[in-house]
Amino acid sequence: MTKTILRALAGETLPTPPIWMMRQAGRYLPEYKATRAEAGDFLSLCYNPDLATEVTLQPIRRFGFDAAILFADILLLPQALGADLWFVTGEGPRLSTITGPEGLTKLKGIDDIHETLSPIYQTVRNLSGALPAETTLIGFAGAPWTVATYMIAGQGTPDQGPAHALKAEDRATFEALIDLLTASTIEYLSKQIEAGAEVVKIFDSWAGSLKGEDFSKYALEPAREITAALKARHPGIPVIAFPREAGEGYIGFHAATGADCVAVDNSVDAEWVAEHVQPDGCVQGNLASRHMVTGGDALVSEVRRIRQALSKGPHIFNLGHGITPDADPDNVTLMIETLRETQK
Ligand code: CP3
Repeated sequence: MTKTILRALAGETLPTPPIWMMRQAGRYLPEYKATRAEAGDFLSLCYNPDLATEVTLQPIRRFGFDAAILFADILLLPQALGADLWFVTGEGPRLSTITGPEGLTKLKGIDDIHETLSPIYQTVRNLSGALPAETTLIGFAGAPWTVATYMIAGQGTPDQGPAHALKAEDRATFEALIDLLTASTIEYLSKQIEAGAEVVKIFDSWAGSLKGEDFSKYALEPAREITAALKARHPGIPVIAFPREAGEGYIGFHAATGADCVAVDNSVDAEWVAEHVQPDGCVQGNLASRHMVTGGDALVSEVRRIRQALSKGPHIFNLGHGITPDADPDNVTLMIETLRETQK
């Protein structure tokens, strides 16, 4: 029997949607914190195949999710391209910045990324031998725009201001960076697939700040190019695209990019998604992450409502964004039990 996630991605409407959760390996789990302490810090954990394998498996053991997502980060690719990367505790990532053409010339060539990223491919190989037979292995990368926002600003920004400014003031440098990231993401994901990833997901966390023509050029077009190249090299490989906060931009995203599944955040209503996005293919989402903190009856009724709203087409249940460190693991169990109960 084919794995449930792969069936949903192939367009099948299942009686119970399969489930996994963004950031399912993370600081809300005591066993994650213990392994991270053993590794020393977050980046050392990402680059240690044995420990990265262990933290990827932890939520599978504890909750029995239908998919495991490789433990890594979207900012490892810029690091492999030669950017400096470090994490400030309690604040988030910091990178060397790209403010003009000289920032680009300092970067390495696409073929050089695999030296840094080879431990990540080893983690994928470990996982493809270690996962239960019913569990799907998802590889991932950041989308070029989202990764570029961090490379340009050197950190996370509320409105992606520095990236929008570079786009306005030095379009050639901005577009060269998007092109470099598009080409290197194809190589990075291709190696993950060769190592055993059965699905790949492209995280465009900041797609929502691209409007109009910019959304087509820098969210849609790179996702289309990456998807087309991967499917040409690895026929049948399913792709999940996550243009977070795209709003109306979710409509037609499957068709325009060739993605098998579009993941939606919780700023859009499940009923609206059923009407406007799901007719084009599988959708993933979209429970608000705060229910993993607050739990209770509101969690139960929201899980049932979303499941019901998306029950007429292919659906992978997930949160609208990553689970937060203050979440209670018992609420994750409640979400899964509620989803898998017989429909009332
Ligand atoms: O989902 C998973 O469990 C797989 C692993 C994964 C991580 N990051 C681990 C991580 C994935 C898929 C990501 C994606 C990622 N990373 C995104 C896109 C998705 C999203 O959340 O919007 C982005 C924007 C990043 C960049 C990033 N990494 C930031 C901004 C931060 C700091 C914020 C935070 O949550 O601490 C990280 C760190 C990070 N990546 C952690 C984890 C488990 C926390 C690190 C720690 O243990 O301290």
